[in-house]
Amino acid sequence: MADLSGLTVLITGAAGGIGTEMARTFAAAGARLVLVDVVSAAELAEQLGAGHRAYSLDLQDPAAIASLVPKMGDACGIDILINNAGIGIVAPAEQQSVEGWDRAHAINLRAPWLMAVAALPYLKASGRGRIINIASQAAVVAIAEHAAYAASKAGLVALTKVLALEWAQHGITVNAISPTVVETPMAMVGWSGEKGENARKEIPVGRFAQPREIASAALYLASKDAGIVTGENLIMDGGYTIR
Ligand SMILES: NC(=O)c1ccc[n+]([C@@H]2O[C@H](COP(=O)([O-])OP(=O)(O)OC[C@H]3O[C@@H](n4cnc5c(N)ncnc54)[C@H](O)[C@@H]3O)[C@@H](O)[C@H]2O)c1
Repeated sequence: MADLSGLTVLITGAAGGIGTEMARTFAAAGARLVLVDVVSAAELAEQLGAGHRAYSLDLQDPAAIASLVPKMGDACGIDILINNAGIGIVAPAEQQSVEGWDRAHAINLRAPWLMAVAALPYLKASGRGRIINIASQAAVVAIAEHAAYAASKAGLVALTKVLALEWAQHGITVNAISPTVVETPMAMVGWSGEKGENARKEIPVGRFAQPREIASAALYLASKDAGIVTGENLIMDGGYTIR
């Protein structure tokens, strides 16, 4: 298990299924947590022990990101940024609303860029900065009715590579994780019953991912030993995209 004692990990979307699991995993590895969400993550921060912080922030608001992230960084530094917050949005391409398209892009793609830029001075000061972007298999394979979501996540993978290239000189690595369906309460609303069973049959390993599997991969990418890995997109899809 990686030892992250003395390091601060900022997790967006920390109140959600995968974010909460990552918060638990990183707290167990000794990290200090900064939990960010549009809903309160204060209870989670308290549950995980002393020294963790929670901030309410709407990632659709560039001015709020620019003003709050320096407050977080000044309070306890930022060594690892995990851009995990995201929204799923499902519609046939010809029925997708412009409002939904723009919201998905603001939260899933623009916010990770703005968070990374706002966190940059602290990641530089860390000397071993890490950015981990939670993308999706939808970034690399066509999934029907996911035009806005897929485009935003493919953009996030492209952003990952550019930041990795530009910021390697500062000792910062930037990687993405692209999971299949992860069995969080929210995801299972859309993938339960026959639809879920049929989807599992299309996956070589025959199942969806568990939140702890994503959290463990993020922990590895955040670790000292992963310093040689940058600009990667770790696809965690049980083999769905290998054919
Ligand atoms: N669960 C899956 O099947 C799955 C699969 C592939 C990728 N992902 C990605 O993993 C990430 C986490 O997914 P999850 O399943 O835990 O989702 P979730 O809905 O359980 O959690 C997402 C969190 O993001 C927060 N959030 C949403 N809009 C926000 C905003 N404007 N500002 C701040 N916070 C906001 C929500 O409040 C929520 O707590 C997302 O980026 C998602 O696209 C999930």
